[in-house]
Amino acid sequence: MSHRPRVFVARRIPDEGLGAIVAACEVDIWEDELPPPRHELLRHVAGCDGILTLLTDGVDDALLDAAGPSLRVVSNYAVGVDNIDIAACGRRGIAVGNTPGALTETTADLAWALMLAASRRVAEGDRYVRAGNWRTWGPMLLLGSDVHGSTLGIVGFGRIGQAVARRATGFGMTVLYHSRGRAAASVEAELGATWVGLDELLERSDIVTLHVSLTTETRGLIDATALARMKPTAVLVNTARGPVVDAVALATALRSGVIAAAALDVTDPEPIAVDDPLLSLDNCLVVPHIASASRATRGRMAAMAAANLLAGVRGEPLPTPVVAEGANDARRG
Ligand code: DGY
Repeated sequence: MSHRPRVFVARRIPDEGLGAIVAACEVDIWEDELPPPRHELLRHVAGCDGILTLLTDGVDDALLDAAGPSLRVVSNYAVGVDNIDIAACGRRGIAVGNTPGALTETTADLAWALMLAASRRVAEGDRYVRAGNWRTWGPMLLLGSDVHGSTLGIVGFGRIGQAVARRATGFGMTVLYHSRGRAAASVEAELGATWVGLDELLERSDIVTLHVSLTTETRGLIDATALARMKPTAVLVNTARGPVVDAVALATALRSGVIAAAALDVTDPEPIAVDDPLLSLDNCLVVPHIASASRATRGRMAAMAAANLLAGVRGEPLPTPVVAEGANDARRG
């Protein structure tokens, strides 16, 4: 195209990506820390050739209508694309890109941080010290559960789930996984991971960690029934998407000792309300959706999102397109 493409970038992203976009396009950047309100989003995308969205920006028919016929690409600054109506984009021939691979290891690191922190009550210990409660070494003080030698249950065995499994080798764990399809035998052998049905995974695991995309199938996957299958000593970790877990059922399970603890990077809704019952529970650790938040990874995500955006506005194939088929756990990571 001869004119500089018009693009809307829905938040300031790292220079590793923004630089290339600014160099090649007429760019409108939403500078606020908070997402553009819906009416602003619709206003800003009007007449754009491309838009760079975050997981907080819903892309649906109304937004595509507001953007108009010039729109060629939606580039999501995330691997998850549950904020985007992929089919609606597909019907209009609008390409969609995401950032697979860029955040796999960083997300797996955070899943491990949460597994360790919840099992060994790290956040509770920190609160205890800061509250001035630490008076002596105590034989029964803040007893948790061992991570080494325990059984790890991984729900969703795409890139991130497998990266979590890889780290378990050093902890001498038994690794179970559940996903719609089985991993290749070579992957199972390399990671020492065994496929089991979801019920068996929930019943046998000391730690259950979630790595599925949010789809109609996985929404509410961990509900009261699923939680009841888990061990009373078990820890649940969610770095996937908040709605995969029924938050009300989780609060009840944590309060009544159905499971021992949970650690959440994602909640439903986000942000979690400060008076949400989960935040009143000492055995629930919550961090604000930071699984991919290392400087290096956010830079890589920016570069990938920019590459998708620029290819899309030029009418070229995206380096990392989202396939139109419904999201599945193999795409995570
Ligand atoms: C994603 O990419 O889907 C994460 O949730 C945010 O990095």
